[in-house]
Amino acid sequence: MLWPIPRGGKAERVGNPADVDPVAGGDDVDGRAHVDALADVDPADVYGADSRQPVGDRPWVLANMIVSIDGAATDPTGRSAGLGGPADLRVFSAIRAVADIVLAGAGTVRTERYGPARLHPAQQEARRSRGQSLQPRIAVVTRSLALDLDLPLFRDASDEYRPIVITTTAGLDRVRASGGAAGATTARDLAMVAEIVVAGDQFVDWGTALRALRTTARAGVVLLEGGPTTNAQLIAAEVLDELCLTVSPQLVGGDGLRILSGLDVDAPRRMTLHRVLLEDDYLFLRYLRAREGA
Ligand SMILES: NC(=O)c1ccc[n+]([C@@H]2O[C@H](COP(=O)([O-])OP(=O)(O)OC[C@H]3O[C@@H](n4cnc5c(N)ncnc54)[C@H](OP(=O)(O)O)[C@@H]3O)[C@@H](O)[C@H]2O)c1
Repeated sequence: MLWPIPRGGKAERVGNPADVDPVAGGDDVDGRAHVDALADVDPADVYGADSRQPVGDRPWVLANMIVSIDGAATDPTGRSAGLGGPADLRVFSAIRAVADIVLAGAGTVRTERYGPARLHPAQQEARRSRGQSLQPRIAVVTRSLALDLDLPLFRDASDEYRPIVITTTAGLDRVRASGGAAGATTARDLAMVAEIVVAGDQFVDWGTALRALRTTARAGVVLLEGGPTTNAQLIAAEVLDELCLTVSPQLVGGDGLRILSGLDVDAPRRMTLHRVLLEDDYLFLRYLRAREGA
């Protein structure tokens, strides 16, 4: 079904729920995709009202990514910042506000120079009323453990919101064996500034890692902020429940990254469009994982 989106107005696709029935997304999932101008709504209310429940023994996993019209996940400088804008920042912050853990690959943490999540007082109040901690914690996945401990993520985090480093036995053994040679990070340095979670031998196993976040950090919602290498693994592991995708009104060209890198699957994964928000020519799309067989 094609459906027009009136500029500055509202539209609603009314489809056959049997066609679009997504995986347990909550009471608000009724088989319709809602289209709204962002200016008419508060993104904090919109994303905060979505139902996200743990799935079995793991947290709900949503990814938030931004792409150009031609599908680039980075601007010409190799970062994502140039794709964003004020409306995007509001949505980005509203999505962070629903997360217990913000998870990112080490590549993204290095490139984007991550710091601790900092939410506004109103967002903190909403979290308190939902029974969440006031801020989400950041978790970084890495095998090499080649992390700059001077990053704001480690330097500026409070004890209460210590970052989590998810790694492997092999990675930790290697760091221990290096014993801090030639400026290398030692396991002790790392343990001073982060909680270390070991989830796998050579590579992080996502089932183990997510269960650990559920049990040790009591996470109900994990927000995956990329990058493409890490995204692809969570999709291959069949644990991505939701994708919030911002389409930035820019043509970037080049042969930069897409939002998935290295995903090697037999068949494309189907997702169901749940909501569209519009502002400043940006599209904010919310997709849910389609139920098997839908
Ligand atoms: N458009 C957007 O919304 C967006 C969002 C995020 C990032 N980005 C861009 O994406 C780029 C970075 O993405 P990327 O794909 O290169 O890197 P990435 O996914 O951020 O990080 C990859 C790294 O994560 C660690 N890792 C991932 N899976 C692992 C596993 N199973 N076991 C152990 N370690 C694991 C490894 O770290 P080690 O190397 O330390 O072992 C790996 O090299 C940047 O240019 C960034 O600006 C764009």
